[in-house]
Amino acid sequence: MSKTIIANWKMNLSIKESLILANKIAKIKTDNEIIVCPDFLSLNLINQKLKRKDIYLGAQDCAAYSYGSYTGEVASQSIIESGAKYVIIGHSERRKYQKEDNEIINNKIKQALKVGLKVILCVGENLTEKKNKKTKSILKTQLKGALKDVLKKELTNISIAYEPIWAIGSGKTPEAEKVNETSIYIKDLIYNDFKKKVKVFYGGSIKASNSSEFLKYKQIDGLLIGGASLNYQEFSKIFKKNYVR
Ligand code: 13P
Repeated sequence: MSKTIIANWKMNLSIKESLILANKIAKIKTDNEIIVCPDFLSLNLINQKLKRKDIYLGAQDCAAYSYGSYTGEVASQSIIESGAKYVIIGHSERRKYQKEDNEIINNKIKQALKVGLKVILCVGENLTEKKNKKTKSILKTQLKGALKDVLKKELTNISIAYEPIWAIGSGKTPEAEKVNETSIYIKDLIYNDFKKKVKVFYGGSIKASNSSEFLKYKQIDGLLIGGASLNYQEFSKIFKKNYVR
């Protein structure tokens, strides 16, 4: 079954480095969907220079407003014109460093959907919440808040990335079977509210060596990868594993 593999480069590469890595990734032979998310400034250039068009581009964020006097913000319309098809919204690093709450995230989602971007909405619990067995209630609050007043038909353009905060960049991952269960929980929650099926991806300390552990589960539709997506050797190995062809 085809999966979605997303590379989130965060703020780790320059424009030149992003272009070089994107060109290498574009040569990977796979039936799976690859989405590369460089910084804003690299999007347009990569879109113009990339020969293969079956890897997709995504932005790492978008503004919560359409246009206006919002110094430093990037409008969804500009993102889509730059060649991106996707946008990551609500990443825990933005929730933490930019203090994005569910209301801001909800506005961002609406702006992105308005211009036709496909949204990858990130949700996940922190370590204390996990220890206090609050994962499900945290996910529920995040999902309900982020998807408030989103229309059923718009759900077609939304997928969810489950990224436990404690797993990001830590080398620690939850058990894949647990992630599969959480994925089912998220899908059921959204189905109950919207009567729509969504894809759920997992993110947090994925490397080539543990990728197939997660991808073998039917309800894990793909991976959102940070660190390991910056290294071509490591990233390309993911596609050589059993479950991603
Ligand atoms: P790492 O793969 O580096 O843990 O990062 C995950 C992530 O935050 C992807 O969005």
